[in-house]
Amino acid sequence: MLSYVGLSLLVLLSAMEAATVERVEYDYYKYHTMPEITKWMAQVEKDNPGVVTIVEYGQTYEKRVIRLLKIGLNTGEKKKAIWMDCGIHAREWIAPAFCQYFVRQILQAHKTDPKMQEMIRNMDFYVTPVLNMDGYIYSWKDNTTRLWRKNRSPGPPDCDSYGTDLNRNFDANWGTLGVSFNCSSETYCGSQAVSEPEAQAVTYFVGSRKDDFLCFLTIHSYGQLLLVPYGHPNFTAPNYKELMEVGLGAADAIRSVHGKNYTVGTSPDVLYANSGSSRDWARFQGIPYSYTFELRDKGTFGFQLPQDQIQPTCEEAYSGALHIITYAHDKTFNGAVATAAATLWTMLLTVGVTSTTLM
Ligand SMILES: *[C@@H]1O[C@H](CO)[C@@H](O)[C@H](O)[C@H]1NC(C)=O
Ligand SMILES: *[C@@H]1O[C@H](CO)[C@@H](O)[C@H](O)[C@H]1NC(C)=O
Ligand SMILES: *[C@@H]1O[C@H](CO)[C@@H](O)[C@H](O)[C@H]1NC(C)=O
Ligand SMILES: *[C@@H]1O[C@H](CO)[C@@H](O)[C@H](O)[C@H]1NC(C)=O
Ligand SMILES: [Zn+2]
Repeated sequence: MLSYVGLSLLVLLSAMEAATVERVEYDYYKYHTMPEITKWMAQVEKDNPGVVTIVEYGQTYEKRVIRLLKIGLNTGEKKKAIWMDCGIHAREWIAPAFCQYFVRQILQAHKTDPKMQEMIRNMDFYVTPVLNMDGYIYSWKDNTTRLWRKNRSPGPPDCDSYGTDLNRNFDANWGTLGVSFNCSSETYCGSQAVSEPEAQAVTYFVGSRKDDFLCFLTIHSYGQLLLVPYGHPNFTAPNYKELMEVGLGAADAIRSVHGKNYTVGTSPDVLYANSGSSRDWARFQGIPYSYTFELRDKGTFGFQLPQDQIQPTCEEAYSGALHIITYAHDKTFNGAVATAAATLWTMLLTVGVTSTTLM
């Protein structure tokens, strides 16, 4: 028979256990389901009052609410902004993992690092951990759907397949290069520019504040590339040289973390020509520093990057993203000019990806 003391001890122990469970750290180094990520977003907002706000800015085809985390201090001043989205392609699971890591890192740095404190005073960070939520959930369904890329809208009435490639659906030379009008294709660009609700959400949200945004960073895998505008070879960004220099600086920062080589260039120069990407759309809107990150690896595991590579991949990519963001910030707020031995790096450019796998 349990004594009163014994019983109290049991109650106390189970209370302690419950409290411990409550305090279990979120594991940033495993892949998370959509419900887990949504719960994590709510927790991050709750844990960082006055700094983090959830913003709902659209709906997916299957009527899920698209949310981002807005990170910044309300200074009462008009601020500049940084955009980051992950998971526009469903199967690229390392991308949402990176967005979550990125949020944690800037929130930690904001507590200790004067530079991050300065940047969070001057700029708001808008981070969408999973843009293509329907596709992401579908890619978690079973091992036959793991490599799903597109969203989940049905095609035209005579089509027996689902999905539009959201990164071909933006209003940037839409439907001209590197796309398919076959609705069963992985690169089906949709019935018209911005036909898809997920592309509409980004277009309206970013488009309505386009003068605020300094950076537009859209995160994909795989290939270890930093892609600059434009995907169409007949168009050149007005600041192409600067985009390359800053991109090469970011690649340098990435290399210094775990020795991984990232190749920098336009899509036609280092991957394949394409049209309708969000990166190109953002640059056409006048957002100066628009980049696509293609994270690890170079094809060994491809979209199915093992979980033990999440940490190093995120660490190096954070360093690269921070290089671009810091450059954009300092140029805008300090007039500082970040020059580098960038021309040297240009000479070292190598094309690392020869496969035609879509990323
Ligand atoms: C999917 O999983 C089943 C059961 O675990 C396995 O038998 C099958 O080979 C897997 N298929 C693929 C395409 O990986
Ligand atoms: C459309 O694409 C699918 C998948 O790639 C392919 O099987 C089919 O033959 C294509 N249809 C036409 C008309 O090209
Ligand atoms: C690029 O411009 C050239 C010259 O005007 C033209 O011949 C070519 O078709 C264009 N390329 C594309 C992909 O539109
Ligand atoms: C990265 O590139 C440099 C220069 O091209 C080369 O020396 C080095 O071996 C590469 N590192 C890896 C890990 O491939
Ligand atoms: Zn992709």
